Amino acid sequence: MKKITIAIDGYSSTGKSTVAKQLADYLGYVYVDSGAMYRAVTLYAMQRGIISKEHFDAQKLIASLPSIDLRFEKKSAWNKAHIYLNGKDVENEIRNLEVSEFVSPIATIHEVRVKLVAQQQKMGLEKGVVMDGRDIGTVVFPKAELKIFMNASANERAQRRYKELLDRGEVVEFKNVLKNIEDRDHIDTTREDSPLVKAADAIEIDNSEMNLDDQFHTVLQLAKDRI
Ligand code: C5P
Repeated sequence: MKKITIAIDGYSSTGKSTVAKQLADYLGYVYVDSGAMYRAVTLYAMQRGIISKEHFDAQKLIASLPSIDLRFEKKSAWNKAHIYLNGKDVENEIRNLEVSEFVSPIATIHEVRVKLVAQQQKMGLEKGVVMDGRDIGTVVFPKAELKIFMNASANERAQRRYKELLDRGEVVEFKNVLKNIEDRDHIDTTREDSPLVKAADAIEIDNSEMNLDDQFHTVLQLAKDRI
């Protein structure tokens, strides 16, 4: 069977990563959560006071980029790979609402994108990869054999994300989660460098009314048609 590259893009909290991981496991492909990389850079910037509610020193972050090392490592064959920032597992820390609030401004920085896109392209050199994000089908793998663009209403996405954060034990208000999703959508779609946009050859899936099983089987069939 030939190996292909699968790009899954879409708005925040559309469930891209769940379906991408399921698909990669089923096909025996590598799954890469590109958002985790932007989140880890954001965590680095927060830890060093480069970004806070009061200030953001983009030049300092750009100067620090060579000392940011990102790696994915799997704890076991069936688990999702965790992201390591300079040797430390930060998979859990990068998911909180504070990181979510700073990540989109960080992701507008051209130099950050250049570094992360190069690493992502390296990870996909041998194909057999499912990567999710915002610019995978447009910038990272413009020649991907399968491109999916996931969508769902902002309210539905916020409900899912809110539940996820509560399950993790975070104390959050629904209105703040919804606002964060709307803010990130706005920044991600209007930024100058690699804005979130559906690639011309991507297949759009609105999953507002779909369960996980339906989504998985829809995407799996599309992949099988191309393998
Ligand atoms: O996918 P996730 O929601 O974890 O991504 C967090 C943020 O990282 C997005 O809101 C976006 O600003 C940025 N991102 C990006 N390009 C990617 C993946 C994520 O700009 N390929």
